[in-house]
Amino acid sequence: MTEPRKILVTSALPYANGSIHLGHMVEYIQTDIWVRFQKMRGNQAIYVCADDAHGSAIMLRAEKEGISSEQLIDNVRAEHTTDFADFLVDFDNYYSTHSEENRVLSGSIYTKLREAGHIGTRPVTQYFDPEKQMFLADRFIKGTCPKCGAEDQYGDNCESCGATYSPTELKNPKSAISGATPVLKESLHYFFKLPNFDAMLKQWTRSGALQESVANKIAEWLDAGLQEWDISRDAPYFGFEIPDAPGKYFYVWLDAPIGYMASFQNLCARRPELDFDAYWNKNSTAELYHFIGKDIVNFHALFWPAMLEGAGYRKPTALNVHGYLTVNGQKMSKSRGTFIKARTYLDHLSPEYLRYYYAAKLGRGVDDLDLNLEDFVQKVNSDLVGKVVNIASRCAGFIHKGNAGKLVADNAAPELFADFKAAAPSVADAFENRDFARAMREIMALADRANAWIADKAPWALAKQEGKQAEVQAVCAAGVNLFRQLVIFLKPVLPSLAAAAEGFLNVAPLTWADHETLLADHQLNPFNPLMTRIEPAKIDAMIAASKEDLAAQNTAPAVQGNGELTKEPLAAEIAFDTFAAVDLRIALIEKAEFVEGADKLLRLTLDIGDAKRNVFSGIKSAYPDPSKLEGRLTLYVANLAARKMKFGVSEGMVLAAGPGGEEIYLLSPDSGAKPGQRVK
Ligand code: 2FM
Ligand code: ZN
Repeated sequence: MTEPRKILVTSALPYANGSIHLGHMVEYIQTDIWVRFQKMRGNQAIYVCADDAHGSAIMLRAEKEGISSEQLIDNVRAEHTTDFADFLVDFDNYYSTHSEENRVLSGSIYTKLREAGHIGTRPVTQYFDPEKQMFLADRFIKGTCPKCGAEDQYGDNCESCGATYSPTELKNPKSAISGATPVLKESLHYFFKLPNFDAMLKQWTRSGALQESVANKIAEWLDAGLQEWDISRDAPYFGFEIPDAPGKYFYVWLDAPIGYMASFQNLCARRPELDFDAYWNKNSTAELYHFIGKDIVNFHALFWPAMLEGAGYRKPTALNVHGYLTVNGQKMSKSRGTFIKARTYLDHLSPEYLRYYYAAKLGRGVDDLDLNLEDFVQKVNSDLVGKVVNIASRCAGFIHKGNAGKLVADNAAPELFADFKAAAPSVADAFENRDFARAMREIMALADRANAWIADKAPWALAKQEGKQAEVQAVCAAGVNLFRQLVIFLKPVLPSLAAAAEGFLNVAPLTWADHETLLADHQLNPFNPLMTRIEPAKIDAMIAASKEDLAAQNTAPAVQGNGELTKEPLAAEIAFDTFAAVDLRIALIEKAEFVEGADKLLRLTLDIGDAKRNVFSGIKSAYPDPSKLEGRLTLYVANLAARKMKFGVSEGMVLAAGPGGEEIYLLSPDSGAKPGQRVK
């Protein structure tokens, strides 16, 4: 027996200000499969994660919603936790970077870096919002592009011509938060002296810790010369105050990776067999892996190992970097309905379909992964339902009918069983090396062989013949054993199918080593269908619901906004003519009804004096009894281009305000107004 490995695994910490979508899920599913595989092999694998809770974006979002930052991050963490759990992502701990453990660890790592001479300070001049009394990150400054003159561009790059520049070059700069004209202001910043770690990083990034293409990218940065890293932000900021520096906060990216350690430390307090130091001290023999997307490689391959080294901790064993998700060959798109939230997917489809599809497409590289929805349906139905589950459903009936559910001891396919066993090391090697696509290919090739063998033996034909009962039972017992081996190989990917199969097989939770043994003379439980086919209509419904998420935002823009108008950043100024171009009318709501299959929309039939209009409005959450709206007057944008939706055409929109949910308020004129009158 070899000693179990000690393996600590992380996925990137999602920001605590937005929902999880299928792009995120690539990473969490990939990591979860790998960890489940390690656990099945008997290793001590620990999977920790957390919400990345700090930064000005989170602070401003909370302010916009009229709640505290703490309240926002609690709400979002609850949402993230259920989304992950429902996708069967099994964290050992899911914590928050806004925790006491993280505060203490961040402070002590910083102090160690300072004592070792790796921290410096110098003044930095930056745009400052005089109204909001805060320094503005580049993305909170908008203005006219200095190169092409396009208006309303962010402080660091122009979406129109692609130019990059510094915010001070922007013409007519405005704070995107208050609309005020920012002023330049100086303040003292704290820097981490990354160049001190140049030699170590050159060595570490070539030590096998990075995939080759990632190492090559990093080498470009290393060759260009490392810069000191600005790790401080001035108040107001949601984060941890820097020790001995009142009013200065750690930049979110300083304490985020320390959040990996903090989450693990928090877990250690509950699990006495885990020793924090054994995983993190300089001489640790434990393995440490970070699964991340290719966009955050610089933080994990440069700053993070340097911080760890400088503060006297071990460095990661490896970074496992993956690419982005595309849907139907294109970037996820809100208007195409392919920007699919985790919850929207789960409302329509089983998590294991996606887990399998991602597994079937994930290799070791950093290539993007395409979720082709047609291929998704076809592959899941043909592989999982048609090949794997089919084996059990073909055999179970004969065993229950012919032998009261008892598997006989005869094995009619000893060679095939031995071949499956012989294939296991290669499948395990593919899992170990994160080549899940190869693992799935090899497993499906085995499933094809099992099906072909059963088809050849045709127990359904034998069952009709006199005196062939023993043979039927031997064939079906072999079939069930082959199915069991396949389930073991697929268990890291399909934990819930495996649990259902364990129920049917009447066995304890299967481990990897169990593939070497046979069930013989063994009582089975009744067979229930283990997985059903994906109906393409479900995909259509999911896409429609994703479009509806967007439509709900568009038809009631205030849903995304805040409760208090004064806190909503002012949109760019418009000319009077632009305003006058909007044809606002009084409308009478004649009819208000639910829309079948739509979670957020109501269908309104409006009387606008000389005509009727049909409008879909994302206000259902505030009006659970739509009939109460009937007979009421409201404001209506009459000349908005019609929008074709799944449920019909929406002609214009009605006006509402409010933060969303139950708090959406439809606007009404004073009494006496008449349908069709124009607002002037
Ligand atoms: O890019 C992101 O979504 C970050 N929130 C990831 C942080 S990973 C780690 F360093 F904390
Ligand atoms: Zn430009």
